[in-house]
Amino acid sequence: MIKEEVKIYPDTTALSEGFTAFIQKLLSVYPRINIALSGGTTPKVVFDYWAENCKDSIDWSRLFFFWGDERCVPPENVMNNYGMTKDHLFDKIPAIPQNNVYRIHGENEPEEEADWYSKILSAKLMQRLDIPSFEIVMLGVGDNGHTVSIFPNQMSLWDSKEICLLTEHPESKMKRVTISGRVVNNAQYVVILATGKNKAEMVRNIIEKREQFFDKYPAARVNPKKGYLYWFLDNEAASLL
Ligand code: 6PG
Repeated sequence: MIKEEVKIYPDTTALSEGFTAFIQKLLSVYPRINIALSGGTTPKVVFDYWAENCKDSIDWSRLFFFWGDERCVPPENVMNNYGMTKDHLFDKIPAIPQNNVYRIHGENEPEEEADWYSKILSAKLMQRLDIPSFEIVMLGVGDNGHTVSIFPNQMSLWDSKEICLLTEHPESKMKRVTISGRVVNNAQYVVILATGKNKAEMVRNIIEKREQFFDKYPAARVNPKKGYLYWFLDNEAASLL
């Protein structure tokens, strides 16, 4: 039985406020939070909100930033998730210690990087059931139902025994390093952020028809075994619920 809560906000600012309150609540419980950030465009609203409003109100020294996936391009490339986060968050908040950031090196040889990052996660995170466990895994959902960088044409990779693995975007063929579904589902909290009308149908499919799409969409397999799944949605993304 999935332990799930759907939080709906009128707009992205309210969603960012709600997500920040969630982080603050966890910081009042956990001495250290290891968070796997998602990439793409959705997280920008939260990073911009934090840069504008939370420079001094979040104890950044206790937040440790990892990624759930990275595109295999250098940080300077506009497609790089770390590069986007640096532009929207790290460069705006000097209080975030550089030593708290564990990026996936998109510029490195992908197979070697996937292996290296698996070792980093094993070394830095608590192990639960012999798998690294994040306090928070932050996810987006593609309108094709992918999440992290596991795509609908690679469903078998979701249950890979690997901690990190190499995948490829089905259209662009861009190589990606991603955590596996087992690592996603080993988190204490999985949070899925989705905004905008273009996500509404996929959000409804996953939340209301999960079993029907279990073999079709990787996002339908998000189910933290001993944790919680929280959705942070704006009204548009929640409009078909
Ligand atoms: C990535 C992401 C990916 C993303 C979804 C949603 O690197 O692309 O980690 O899983 O979360 O594609 O992306 P948007 O937020 O851009 O819609």
